[in-house]
This record gives sequence, C-alpha cells and structure tokens, in this order.
Amino acid sequence: MKKNKKKVIIANIKMNGSLHFNEAYLAKIKENFNNFKNLNICLCVPYPYLFQAKKILNNTKISWGSQNVAKFENGPHTGEVSAAMIKEFGSKYVIVGHSERSTAYCESDENIADKFKKIKKYNMTPVLCVGETLIEREAGIMERVVSSQIEVIIKTYGAQVFENSIIAYEPIWAIGSDTAATPDQANKMCNFIMDFISKKHKCDLKNFNIIYGGSVNRKNAVQLFASESLDGVLIGRASINFDEFNQICFAAENN
Ligand code: PGA
Repeated sequence: MKKNKKKVIIANIKMNGSLHFNEAYLAKIKENFNNFKNLNICLCVPYPYLFQAKKILNNTKISWGSQNVAKFENGPHTGEVSAAMIKEFGSKYVIVGHSERSTAYCESDENIADKFKKIKKYNMTPVLCVGETLIEREAGIMERVVSSQIEVIIKTYGAQVFENSIIAYEPIWAIGSDTAATPDQANKMCNFIMDFISKKHKCDLKNFNIIYGGSVNRKNAVQLFASESLDGVLIGRASINFDEFNQICFAAENN
C-alpha cells in the first residue's frame, strides 16, 4: 500500500449483532483500536445500531456508518432510510452497491448512481462496491464489467464525483467464500480502476481510495497490504471476530 497514506479499513458488519453483543464489542474496539495511528477505521452497522455506535464511538478516531441508503430524499418509501437520517447519527461512510443487495434486491446500476450522489450530498463518504462474477472472470471480461459499473456513475454525474469517495473492488466470487482474490488479481484490478478514472476520464482526484474486499482475513491481510495499488480493505465476516479483526488492523498498521 502507498506509504505515508492512512489505510482505509471498512468493516461490513452485515446483518449481525444485537444491542447486547454490540455493547461489549464496540467497547472493546474503542479500547483497542483507538491507538492505531495509520488507519481510518469505520464500522458499517445495521441501521438500528447507528445510535449505539454513535454513543459508544463518539470522540474516538473510529467512525461508523451504514450498509445502504435510500435514493430518495424523503416521503412515501416504506422501509427505506434516507441519507439525511443516516447523517443525523453521525455516520461518516455508507456502503453502496454491495452485491448482496444488487443480487437479492434487484438493485440497478442507475439506482446505485442515485444513492451514491445522495451520500455525497450529505457529506458522507460513499464506499461503492464493484466486482465481477466467477463466470465473468473466467470469460476474461472482468475489467469490462467493473468499468461499466463505474461508467454509469460517471455518465450521470461526471468522474469528479469520485472526489472524497472510495471504490471497493469486491469480486463476487470472493465474498463469503474461502477464496480471496490473490494480491496480484486485486492489484491489477485496482490499478485498472485508477487508470480508468484518471487516464480514460482524465480526472485527477486528490482524496480517493481504492480498497479490496472479499474473504479478507488475518492470513491474507499481510500480503494484501503489501500491494502498491490498494489503499485498504473491506472486511465482512472477519470484522465480527475481535481477534481476527484486530490482527488485520495490526497488519495494516505495521505494513
Ligand atoms: P467477507 O465479506 O469478508 O465475509 O467475504 C466481504 C463483503 O461482503 O464486503
């Protein structure tokens, strides 16, 4: 990873936790993670726990946020949660376009683009997930798939919209499996994404990070953190196991 730049560690807690579990878990994170100097750590929790995250993590260097957002401002959208509401709870980051949502809830790329813009409107940092399926990788079209996911946002809002944002390369085949992308695969795709935005779309971004997600664990973290083009990681399962999460952060801090 780039030297002299803080690494981004986003925890995707997914639909896990409870008031009881979080109380102890967040307190432990607060106690142990606040001393990391080279990391920007954020826990993306289920909506009902934003208040609890704010209460426990307030006045620490650890941020919190959500895993989705409505594309609408407000109004008759039963079950949705707006960017303004998420912001009210002090959220800093919002995951958008995660494949578990686009597959299960038929999220279109256009919806994702609108959500991305809403997150920015409320001065939060979008963590846009992009990635290919195994079939697409085997067919060798992974770069085409990933660039088309990014292109939808650029077409609507211009490449400059990626200033102050994060793209998470999350190959769908690596999520929730035991097979993370190799550091070389992750590195190549992150380089490709950077070139796609900075060269193809001629956009020079000052505060923009590209991270990798998909089966990150304490074993593969060290190698991933050695990759030049990665600015951090998005961690799913391993983020609700304190020892595992702690070791990943430790590897990031010391690499
Ligand atoms: P995983 O999930 O680390 O459990 O593979 C990553 C993600 O879905 O963001």
